[in-house]
Amino acid sequence: MTELNLVLLGPPGSGKGTQSERLQEDLQLPYYATGDILRAAVKEGTALGRTAQEYMERGDLVPDEVIVGVIGERIDSEEAADGFILDGFPRTTPQAEAVEAKLEELGRALTAVLLIDVSDDEVVRRLGGRRTCAENGHVFHVEFNPPKQEGACDLDGSELVIRDDDKPEVIRHRLDQYHDKTEPLVGHFDRQSLLRRIDGTAAPDQVADEIRRTLATMKLEADEAI
Ligand code: AP5
Repeated sequence: MTELNLVLLGPPGSGKGTQSERLQEDLQLPYYATGDILRAAVKEGTALGRTAQEYMERGDLVPDEVIVGVIGERIDSEEAADGFILDGFPRTTPQAEAVEAKLEELGRALTAVLLIDVSDDEVVRRLGGRRTCAENGHVFHVEFNPPKQEGACDLDGSELVIRDDDKPEVIRHRLDQYHDKTEPLVGHFDRQSLLRRIDGTAAPDQVADEIRRTLATMKLEADEAI
């Protein structure tokens, strides 16, 4: 494989952000998380942030046309020439078609889509206990991954907060949006033989090991095919 163009797919709270931190260390590839990009835009009060804020607070997806260009620019950048990790994008069929068209225009294609699979009940447990670092978005969980000092980020000491969209009623709505708009992408990518299912219910280090094994197998298969 000459380049690694990866997508992390999965319901809210499945551990995409948690696994991305490990993947970035392993692969040294640029990481584009649309949730982080949009939250930063809201914080900075940019036009993108002002458009996105009300959708995000309700747990709705922002309109496709708002987000597609944001990712298109990044994929087309010099830093992404050897590959990238997308987290939270694509999330709808039009977004998937847009990223595929953009890559085709660049003479490239997605390498794999890693689906991190967990049940709705597990999502509710995880997001109910999530605490997020206010400055840099580092993620903790009161039970499964508690910070060393309550209320403070282990990595940069910032305050740990509950995301606005981690309120119980919003979590349920985000799950509905996932099943309705994002889950159809499982079949979309499976039909293209890009989908790799990862059991997201194991502990974070075990999930990371399964992802590493999956990527290693893909590389072997690609090398054998040459
Ligand atoms: P976004 O930020 O992408 O939210 P999400 O997909 O709902 O994902 P999360 O960040 O909630 O969860 P995660 O899977 O990263 O899990 P995490 O690792 O934190 O999007 C937010 C909003 O932005 C959307 O609702 C939408 O409005 C908008 N948006 C973003 N992208 C968009 C797009 N493409 N189109 C339109 N709108 C878009 O883990 C969760 C918790 O579980 C943590 O506490 C963690 O410590 C814990 N945990 C993780 N792994 C494990 C494990 N294996 N075992 C036990 N606990 C674990």
